[in-house]
Amino acid sequence: MAKAKSVFYCTACGNESAKWVGRCPACGAWNTLQEHIEKPATPGKARSAPVGMSRRPQPLPEVDTDAQIRFLTGMGELDRVLGGGAVAGSLVLVGGAPGIGKSTLLLQICSCLCRDRTVLYVSGEESERQLKMRALRLGVDSDRLFVLSETRLSDVLESADELKPDILIVDSIQTMYHEENESAPGSVSQVKDCTMAMMQLSKAQGITVFVVGHINKDGAIAGPKVLEHMVDCVLYFEGDPNSNYRMLRAAKNRFGSTNEIGVFEMLDTGLAEVPNPSQMLLEGRPEGAPGTCVACVMEGTRPVLAEVQALVCKTTFNVPKRAADGFDFNRAVLLLAVAERRAGMKLSLFDAYINVIGGLRLDEPGADLPVVLAVASSYRDRPIDPDLAAIGEVGLTGEIRSVSQLGQRLQEVSRLGFKKCMIPKNNSEKLDIPVGLTVYRVRDLLEAIAVAL
Ligand SMILES: Nc1ncnc2c1ncn2[C@@H]1O[C@H](COP(=O)(O)OP(=O)(O)OP(=O)(O)O)[C@@H](O)[C@H]1O
Ligand SMILES: [Mg+2]
Ligand SMILES: [Zn+2]
Repeated sequence: MAKAKSVFYCTACGNESAKWVGRCPACGAWNTLQEHIEKPATPGKARSAPVGMSRRPQPLPEVDTDAQIRFLTGMGELDRVLGGGAVAGSLVLVGGAPGIGKSTLLLQICSCLCRDRTVLYVSGEESERQLKMRALRLGVDSDRLFVLSETRLSDVLESADELKPDILIVDSIQTMYHEENESAPGSVSQVKDCTMAMMQLSKAQGITVFVVGHINKDGAIAGPKVLEHMVDCVLYFEGDPNSNYRMLRAAKNRFGSTNEIGVFEMLDTGLAEVPNPSQMLLEGRPEGAPGTCVACVMEGTRPVLAEVQALVCKTTFNVPKRAADGFDFNRAVLLLAVAERRAGMKLSLFDAYINVIGGLRLDEPGADLPVVLAVASSYRDRPIDPDLAAIGEVGLTGEIRSVSQLGQRLQEVSRLGFKKCMIPKNNSEKLDIPVGLTVYRVRDLLEAIAVAL
C-alpha cells in the first residue's frame, strides 16, 4: 500500500519542496511554506474517464473539432485576452489583488453569457442578496443567472450537477473547502483540491469554469501561483489603486497567445472597456518638459502608445542609483551603459530613474529608443518635440535596429495625432507612411539624439 506523501508548497510562488524551510528557496518569502499531504491513489477507485470522451486513442484527423467550441463573453477586451472568446470546457483562473474588480468583471459578463447560456455564480464571500444588489448596480438581470452563496465544495458540485449550467463562476477559490481535507480554507492543500475538482467538472461535463483567486503578499492564503500549472488559462487583473484603469493580462493560456492585454476603466456602473488604450496612456502628458518621450510597442496584435519618463540627476552616492518601473531593470542598466559609451553622456555620475506611465510594462525591444531619448532629454534638460514618437531597438554598438510590424505602429502613431516618428533606418519592411506623418530614419544613437534634441 502506498504511503501518504507530504510535500510543501510556497503560498506566494507555488514552489514545491520536499521539506519545510523557513524561507522559500524560490522567491525568498519567509514562512510561506505549507504542508500538503498527497493522498495515495486507492486501487479500484481510479479516476474514471470524463463522460462523453472515448478512452481509446483516436487518430488525430478523426478527432472532432467543433467550431462552436469558442464563445464570446460580450466583453471585447476579455475575449481578446482569452484568445478570441472563452473555450467551452476550460478552466480560467482570474487572479488579482483585493478590490481590483474581479467579482465585478465576472458578474458583468453574465448579462451577455445568459442570453443563450445558463450561468451558476457561486460566491463564498457575498450573500445572495448582496450579489443581487451588485447585479442591479451593474445592470445584470436574467432568469438564466443563478446565484448561490456557498463555501462547501460538495454542495457546489451538487448544485452544478442539478442545474447543469453551461458556465460556473466560483468566487473565490480561497473560500471553498473540501470536507475530506482537514486543512483550513485558503491553504495550499484546500485550494489545490478544490481546483482539481473544478477541473474535473469542466472536463467531464464541458462546463466552462471561471475561478477567482486572490493574490496577497504576506502568504497567509495560497495564491493563484500555486494553481497556475493546473488550469487552462490564468488571467491577472492589475491596476494602480489610485487610478480607475485596470489591465487584464494572460500569464498562461492553453488556447491562445499570452501577449494580449485588455484595458478597462472602473466606473460606478461597472467596468467599461477601453478600446483605445493609447489615448488613455497618453492622458495628461506634460508637453515641453524635459525627460519624456512617446513609445509605440506591440501588445499582442495591437500597437499601443505609451509615455516613457526619465529623470537623471547628479549622484550623491559612490555607485549611481538606477530604478525602472514598467521597464526591465537590467535592460535599463544596459541602455544607460550604451548611452554612456556610444552617445557620450556621463551617466555613471548620475542617478537615473525610468518610469512608464499608466501601468503598462514595456517589455519589447522597440521601446529601447524612446527610453534612451527620454534619458538624453533629461540629461541635457531639453524637451523632445511633443509631436514626436520613437520606435527602435538599441544595439550594443549604439546602432538602431529594426523592429517588427512597423507599418502598423506608424498607423497608430498617426491615428493618435503625432506628426513625426523616429524609426530605424534599416527596416526591411516595405512601408506605407501615413499621410501627414514625417518619418526620421536613424542609423544610430548619435543621429537619433541629434534629431530629437
Ligand atoms: N456601490 C459602488 N459604487 C461604485 N463603485 C463600487 C461600488 N462598490 C464597489 N465599487 C467598485 O468596485 C471595486 C470592487 O470591485 P470588486 O468587488 O469586483 O473587486 P474584487 O476584486 O472582487 O474584490 P474582493 O477581493 O474584495 O473580492 C471597488 O474598488 C470600487 O471601485
Ligand atoms: Mg470579489
Ligand atoms: Zn516562494
